[in-house]
Amino acid sequence: MPGMNKGIALLAGDGIGPEVMEQALRVLAVVEKRYGITLEKRSAPVGGAAIDSHGRALPEETVETCRRSDAVLFGSVGGPKWESLPPEEQPERGALLPLRKIFGLFANLRPAIVFPQLVHASPLRPDLLEQGLDVLVVRELTGGIYFGTPKGRDDAALNAAGEPDPRAYDTLVYHRSEIERIARVAFEAALLRNRRVTSIDKANVLASMVFWRQVVTSVGAEYPGVELTHMYVDNAAMQLVRNPAQFDVILAGNMFGDILSDEASMLTGSLGMLPSASLAEGSFGLYEPSGGSAPDIAGQGVANPIAQILSAAMMLKYSFGLTQAYEGIFSAVGAVLDEGYRTRDIADGVTAGEAVIGTEEMGRRIAEHLARGEHPGN
Ligand code: IPM
Ligand code: MG
Repeated sequence: MPGMNKGIALLAGDGIGPEVMEQALRVLAVVEKRYGITLEKRSAPVGGAAIDSHGRALPEETVETCRRSDAVLFGSVGGPKWESLPPEEQPERGALLPLRKIFGLFANLRPAIVFPQLVHASPLRPDLLEQGLDVLVVRELTGGIYFGTPKGRDDAALNAAGEPDPRAYDTLVYHRSEIERIARVAFEAALLRNRRVTSIDKANVLASMVFWRQVVTSVGAEYPGVELTHMYVDNAAMQLVRNPAQFDVILAGNMFGDILSDEASMLTGSLGMLPSASLAEGSFGLYEPSGGSAPDIAGQGVANPIAQILSAAMMLKYSFGLTQAYEGIFSAVGAVLDEGYRTRDIADGVTAGEAVIGTEEMGRRIAEHLARGEHPGN
């Protein structure tokens, strides 16, 4: 769509965030030229950096910048410096949870893909990955036990015998509409993939999860071409390491999705490779790497920028409809891996022809491949 003009908020954050963001911008600059679009880039503080400069992890001006934009490209937040703050003020919770809520980012897509070039990086036995791994976790992100009320603590509580016995509680609650809309996202995604959805619940114990199963089943009836199975979360945790290839799309509520998406991502062995998207109704979304801020390697120029670059690719596809740019970036990444270039985290030290390179060189090589244009044009 040449001539397209979009505003993007850049929230680089802490740790390796700023350095990997720089490489994503390098790639986006090529996308602008090659696909004839204009991206207005607006940087704003977030996370620990924002606590230091503005006294809070998500300053109002940052929210405003996001509001004025068509999408948010997020880096990563957090680090040892802010770990002693109360949990709700810490960079991760203080920035991510309110961003999700304010912008209604209810659908979290977390692909766990093993690039064939990197099968060795997985901690699983290679025979379990023979068919590769391409699982998409669709996680509900603005409801469930994360946000349900009442939530809190009661320090004056008494036990049955009338003795002081403080307690704390959260509420796991889902409305039908919340389950329906996330289920639709999962079924629609499955239609474009291998047409299988595994819905995760704990219907053997939790009333909210009996309801979850019932609502997902009724949405599933609208998608006769997609095979729906239900799985208890404990079994799913086990099946993911026993036989991950059985999964196509995993649909889960907020907390189960949080846990299973970390497990699925680790199966790939290369957290530095995995992007994610958090989508609102319509085209607005927030895109961020699945890995964290990696404070231990920040500033050394060794971080893997690929997750951030692929997050930018997801933004182009899901918020701007630029599927060809998305595919172009993916194949540029694949081409650079084919040439043997690896950042430290994905190098195995055994493969012949492997060359270990830094953050900037990885970004530059991917950008160059994209610019050279052996990829689909628009
Ligand atoms: C994630 C993180 C967050 C979550 C934390 C940092 C609040 O674990 O994005 O998965 O639990 O959602
Ligand atoms: Mg998590």
